[in-house]
Amino acid sequence: MQAIVLVGGFGTRLRPLTDTVPKPVLPVGQVPMIVRLVGQLERGGVDQVTLALGFKPEHFNSVFPDQRCGDVAVQYAVEPEPLDTGGAIRFAADVAGIDETFVVANGDVLTDLDLGALVGFHRRSGAEATLHLTPVDDPSVYGVVDADESGRVRRFVEKPTPGTEPCDLVNAGTYVFEPRMLERLPSGVRTSVERQTFPAVVADGALYAMATDDYWIDIGRPDAYLRANLDMLSATSPLSRAEAVDPAARLDQTVTVAHSVIGADVTVGAGTRISGSVLLPGAIVGEQAIIEDSIVMGRIGDGAHVCRVVVGQRGEVAAAARLDGVRVPAPEATEP
Ligand code: GDD
Ligand code: MG
Repeated sequence: MQAIVLVGGFGTRLRPLTDTVPKPVLPVGQVPMIVRLVGQLERGGVDQVTLALGFKPEHFNSVFPDQRCGDVAVQYAVEPEPLDTGGAIRFAADVAGIDETFVVANGDVLTDLDLGALVGFHRRSGAEATLHLTPVDDPSVYGVVDADESGRVRRFVEKPTPGTEPCDLVNAGTYVFEPRMLERLPSGVRTSVERQTFPAVVADGALYAMATDDYWIDIGRPDAYLRANLDMLSATSPLSRAEAVDPAARLDQTVTVAHSVIGADVTVGAGTRISGSVLLPGAIVGEQAIIEDSIVMGRIGDGAHVCRVVVGQRGEVAAAARLDGVRVPAPEATEP
């Protein structure tokens, strides 16, 4: 079965991390997010993936140098300009020559969904498209989906005004599509599958949805990206579980690490204390620093104390600085 994975967004909400690395290439529990996602699709029966992208495609080449991920063939569909989710699906489907039932996945979602079960449900209902749904605390920041008992969708509303959501089940970003869905997506035209296409399929009574309570997270915001990493330390599946400290990290023996993920090629000086944080490959931390609930790609000076900060690859926290709840460099000062 073929899948299209949407990885062409700018990852704006994860700046400054995404100034230098596209969101799906960022590691989650030491493994690039996109590798975890393709592995999940493979377990659900996918053997060919087309990455729909436009932004920084060269980073994906370094993750998949031989255009394979396990036994899955990986190819790229590079949009000449961002076509939004619907235009990107159409563009990638044309590149892949899709003419059978296929899967679409948002490239920033990690889930334990049994994809085979979603495909089975889709085939039994005769739907034109079937969505995976998940319950969330704040549905207003997602696509909210109201379905009847048979799974037929009554309403799809993308990012409704808070307080107006019809229910707490949201679009979890994994879809099964019949090829005729492609006829609803005009070639080369910016189209939002969530705002334009799904409501039209609902009107035709052909959109279905299956809710599950599987592990699910969209890593698109810093708090979620941090949580996804830390969740991998306690993951029950050996396929997901991450090693807390990569063997190739260079930590002084007096460094203390609590509930954190420290990647390869990270250097940390004597006496530094790290808790509830992710240090990404290349991070350099001085001596006697304290890092709490933070994500660090760049540099932290000696004696600095940072809490809830996000430090991009080009970010530098000065020695002895005290920072709480900021991004370094501040997103306004970074490139789009
Ligand atoms: N190729 C391509 N081109 N990909 C795109 C484009 C584009 O123009 N725009 C966005 N994408 C990709 C992003 O890279 C991401 O993987 C996916 O499409 C979804 O975009 P996000 O920006 O992450 O959307 P969201 O998280 O606000 O909302 C979406 O996901 C929610 C679940 O996490 C929607 O699908 C919601 O309905 C859904 O609830
Ligand atoms: Mg997202």
